Amino acid sequence: MSGFQANSQLILALSKGRIFEDTLPLLEAAGITVTENPETSRKLILSTNDPDVRVIIVRATDVPTYVQHGAADFGVAGKDVLLEHGGEGLYQPIDLNIAACRMSVAVRNGFDYETAVRQGARLRVATKFVQTAREHFAKKGVHVDLIKLYGSMELAPLVGLSDAIVDVVSTGNTLRANDLKEVEAIMDISSRLIVNQAALKLKRERLQPIIEAFERASKK
Ligand code: ADP
Ligand code: PRP
Ligand code: MG
Repeated sequence: MSGFQANSQLILALSKGRIFEDTLPLLEAAGITVTENPETSRKLILSTNDPDVRVIIVRATDVPTYVQHGAADFGVAGKDVLLEHGGEGLYQPIDLNIAACRMSVAVRNGFDYETAVRQGARLRVATKFVQTAREHFAKKGVHVDLIKLYGSMELAPLVGLSDAIVDVVSTGNTLRANDLKEVEAIMDISSRLIVNQAALKLKRERLQPIIEAFERASKK
């Protein structure tokens, strides 16, 4: 419990890029303005107009870890990331409907996925999302060898590392640019507000109005 800040101090964990950008309007709705820009500053702890609220910038996959351990009181993370993390120690009060995409299976154009599946072929699947992929193929009764990657999944089928990938897709531009096709949508993905369970009890007075403002703003 040593990670917890004084009762009135709040730390919000965000990742740079789309989650930071899409969370700014929600923070504004809660009366919070981030006064530094993570794209131009090298600082990892950003101040806001509220001396009690600070934002920390971490990798998207690390947001649940900081919140779980109470190093951050709350954070914003994709459903994809939360499923891989497992969600222990996290309260997930709302879907913020930001960073919307879907988790899909994709293969090279010309690879006959349906036939391979029907014939019971063993598939090599490259992905950052091994838990989600394992569960998806287990449900379908498809045998897979999972190859864990940390990014650029689209490359794997092109150089013979895998037959298929499991990755997030939004416009489909990345798949098209790399001669891949989406063959199965696994689930819709969006980002969630996550709150440390102890912080929710100890700092409810500070957190509750922010959660409510986020909830109202994310419904619009
Ligand atoms: P990373 O550096 O881990 O790739 P991102 O900022 O790209 O982090 O992704 C953060 C979250 O945004 C992901 O966990 C996912 O839920 C969502 N996301 C990822 N790619 C897209 C996309 N192309 N369009 C919309 N949302 C996305
Ligand atoms: C994500 C994801 C896909 C792409 C899908 O990459 O890993 O590659 O978006 O989006 P699209 O269907 O609209 O092309 P991102 O832009 O986050 O780059 P990075 O994670 O590799 O930095
Ligand atoms: Mg990304």
